Amino acid sequence: MTFTGLIVAAGSGQRAGQGAPKTLRPLVGRPVLRWSAEALLAAGARELIVAVSEETRAASEAALAGLPRWRTVLGGPTRAMSVQAGLAAIAAGDEEPVLIHDAARPFLETRHVAALLVALGDADGAIPALPVADTLKRGQGGAVDATVPRADLFRAQTPQAFRLDALRAAYRAWPAGEEPTDDAAVMERAGGRVALAPGDPRLMKLTYPEDFAMAEQLAGAARIVRVGQGIDAHRFGPGDRVWLCGVEIPHDQGLVGHSDADAGLHALTDALLGAVGDGDIGQHFPPSDPQWRGASSDRFLRHAAERIAARGGRILAVDVTLVCEQPRVGPHREAMRVRIAEILELPLGRVSVKATTTEKMGFTGRGEGLLAQAVATVETPA
Ligand code: CTP
Ligand code: MG
Repeated sequence: MTFTGLIVAAGSGQRAGQGAPKTLRPLVGRPVLRWSAEALLAAGARELIVAVSEETRAASEAALAGLPRWRTVLGGPTRAMSVQAGLAAIAAGDEEPVLIHDAARPFLETRHVAALLVALGDADGAIPALPVADTLKRGQGGAVDATVPRADLFRAQTPQAFRLDALRAAYRAWPAGEEPTDDAAVMERAGGRVALAPGDPRLMKLTYPEDFAMAEQLAGAARIVRVGQGIDAHRFGPGDRVWLCGVEIPHDQGLVGHSDADAGLHALTDALLGAVGDGDIGQHFPPSDPQWRGASSDRFLRHAAERIAARGGRILAVDVTLVCEQPRVGPHREAMRVRIAEILELPLGRVSVKATTTEKMGFTGRGEGLLAQAVATVETPA
């Protein structure tokens, strides 16, 4: 049976954390969107309509380059609006099924599509659905209110199949101001019959940053853990405050440097770049470039994190050691951990900040300057 594929890829992937939008991130070398598109084409899609956003249009088209039978359309601010933009662009006959698929579910296979089309039969729609295996609780304020019977409950996945004319009519009838969470809900509300096809854990949606590591594993790709280290030193000079690990500390001196001289964040930035063999901070942000004068170092750190995310990597843990007699780091240690965790979007437990002195020996002991060292562990595709 022929069908049209409609891939929604116009979201911004807020929950997936920093880096490129999740549909454009590489999964074993191919962007997530390309996985979904190749799967629908392999399953026999007559044409693929891909809803993209203004910001991601060019990169999405680059991700699809070389594949046959696709067109992009501009999606909307909600998933349902992106779906409707896609439906409007389909030229196929009204009876032909349309399969609507989240770009963020890359592990679609031909067998899923075949089962879905069988389930569609003469129904108005069909969805892959997984029986809920966990016990369900309703709760609020940290306590359980009730156990919800889970018999007859399913988790809906995509692709979802519909007759084109029936789905268009259902969307027209959908009440303004309400937001459906999938397309089957729209068909159900319009009184259509939606059939259940077998779901598959492999049809998981990439939603949170950690889902990408799981996806790499599902894809059978090996991942390795790498360690990077970084060192930075800055000289004390005139001033009344220093920046250390993203925290401003009043002091009777300042640190001399081109940017904000935050040795802690500089060492950590180098550790992250080092873990993935991506040069050093001076290469990414040349001190000779006036645009980095006085720059706040959280930018450097965020940049290193983005470089790691862009190659499908994930920061596991970081550890910074500050070496100085003054200022005392202890009172600011927790604030520093919190700030680094915030910049790197890491749980606090994965961030360590330590301090030590050199017992008045050497340049840190004499108070000429401050030294920072950092170690980062990062997981990346092998
Ligand atoms: N989507 C879309 N248009 C939107 C919102 C979402 O096309 N305005 C697409 C997404 O690109 C994704 C699918 O719908 O492929 C499922 O949505 P979701 O997982 O929620 O993705 P995002 O909305 O991008 O992510 P988030 O909600 O975390 O921001
Ligand atoms: Mg969303």
